[in-house]
Amino acid sequence: MLEEKKIKVLIDEKQINDKIIELAGKLSEEYKNSNPIFIIVLKGAFVFASHLLLKMNIPLNVDFMVISSYGDSTESSGIVRIEEDMSLNIENRHVVIIEDIIDTGTTLNYLRKKIKANNPKSLKIVTLLDKPSRRKVDLEVDYSCFEIEDYFVVGFGLDYAQFYRNLPYVGIISEE
Ligand code: PRP
Repeated sequence: MLEEKKIKVLIDEKQINDKIIELAGKLSEEYKNSNPIFIIVLKGAFVFASHLLLKMNIPLNVDFMVISSYGDSTESSGIVRIEEDMSLNIENRHVVIIEDIIDTGTTLNYLRKKIKANNPKSLKIVTLLDKPSRRKVDLEVDYSCFEIEDYFVVGFGLDYAQFYRNLPYVGIISEE
């Protein structure tokens, strides 16, 4: 059992919701005539992706990849593991990857190369959170809802030892 810890709110539910509505509007406009495929990077992106896609009013496809690089630790292992691959054929399609957080950039750098090898018509990256100060690889992020400092954050899909994914806000585990 995880002992209960205090969580300090970093980004509240309304701030997240407002940003998601804004982003959904931009993406709906950008992809209105192109039937894009949104690839949700599990597990962490499931909450953000669900909220975002529910606010979009254009025809689109959804696919999933299960990726892991952290294990149950708070530091990235640097090794990207594809636990489960996507199933749709992305060749000549507009593809958007949805992530919950970009930290070192290792995961997306790897994913971007892998997806590009399958010849999509275009490829963009959308993330709820971005920690640019932690970047180890050069990575262009097309849409980022919030840039944050180097905190270990949980909630809105993000976990600590697989807990806290269901918090409706992004928070920091307080040591007090
Ligand atoms: C997190 C997050 C990204 C990755 C970002 O996944 O969802 O995929 O780490 O880190 P990076 O930029 O340093 O590569 P995690 O391994 O925690 O798995 P999860 O999505 O199942 O929580």
